Amino acid sequence: MGFVDYEVKGQIAVMTINREKALNALNSQVLDDLNAVLDSVDTNAVRCLVLTGAGDKSFVAGADIGEMSTLTKAEGEAFGKKGNDVFRKIEAFPIPVIAAINGFALGGGCEISMSCDIRIASENAVFGQPEVGLGITPGFGGTQRLARLVGMGMAKQMIYTARNIKADEALRIGLVNQVVPAEELMATAEKMANTIAQNAPIAVRACKKAINDGMQTNIDDALVIEEKLFGSCFESYDQKEGMANFLRKKDDPAKVKHVEFKNE
Ligand code: CAA
Repeated sequence: MGFVDYEVKGQIAVMTINREKALNALNSQVLDDLNAVLDSVDTNAVRCLVLTGAGDKSFVAGADIGEMSTLTKAEGEAFGKKGNDVFRKIEAFPIPVIAAINGFALGGGCEISMSCDIRIASENAVFGQPEVGLGITPGFGGTQRLARLVGMGMAKQMIYTARNIKADEALRIGLVNQVVPAEELMATAEKMANTIAQNAPIAVRACKKAINDGMQTNIDDALVIEEKLFGSCFESYDQKEGMANFLRKKDDPAKVKHVEFKNE
C-alpha cells in the first residue's frame, strides 16, 4: 500500500517503509499508509510483526524536513499528534512488533523504533535525535520513550547534544536488544518473530499488555493488571493443552510433543 509494503509470511508479517529515495523519511502520506496497513493486519492469523525500512542504507531518516519546514505552530502540533497516534498504535498493537533497523534511525526513525517492542539493529545502524539542531524538539515520542528506555541522563545527553550514536553504543546503553551483520538482519528478526509466534498467542498478547500497562503505573496497581491478565489465560484451549502437554511429558517422556497453539 503506497509507501508501506506488507508481506505475510506464515504466522508473521513484515512491514517495510518504502520511500527509499528520501531514506524512508516520514511525511504525512507515509504516516497515513502506516496507519492503514496496521489497521489491515489480521491479528488473529498474524502473531508477530517485523518493521523495517527499504534499502540497505536507512531504516527511517526521520520526519520529513521539507514538509515540516513551512508548518505553523498549530500545524506543527497537529503533525506531532499524527505521528504520535500512529506510533502509539504500534506500541499498543495487540501482537509484538520487532524493529529490524537497517541503517539510519534518526529523529522520527529512532522514535518509531522505540515504539516497537524489540529492536534488532544491523552493524551499520546509526541512532540519534538530531531535532535541536533543526530548531525543534523530538516530536514523535522521543522525549518520552528514550528516557524510559535508556534512563533520563543518557536520554537528555542524546537529545540536548543531538549527537548520533552507532549500533554498538546503542547496544551498550540498552537502546537496542541485539546488533547483527547487515546481511543477517532480516533473518534474525524473522527467526525471533517465528519463535514468538510458536508460543501461545493469547499469553504473548497478555504479556505485552501487562508489561506496557504495568510500566505506566505503581507496582500495586501493576500487579493487579498482571493478575487479571494471568487469569484471562485460563480456560483457553492453549492453556489447557500447554499444561496437559507438560503433564503428559512427566508421565511418559515418550509423549513429549510440540504444542500447536491455536490462539483460542
Ligand atoms: N526529511 C526529508 N528528506 C530527507 C530526510 C528527512 N528527514 N533525510 C534524508 N532525506 C533525503 C535528502 O533530502 C536526500 O534527498 P535528495 O536526494 O532529493 O536530495 C535523500 O534523502 C538522501 O539524503 P542525503 O543526500 O542527505 O544522504 P546522505 O547519505 O548524505 O546523508 C543522512 C544521510 C545523514 C541521514 C542525512 O540525510 C540526514 O541528516 N537526514 C536528516 C536526518 C534528520 O535530521 N532527521 C530528523 C528529522 S526531524 C524529526 O524527525 C522530528 C520528529 O521527531 C518528529
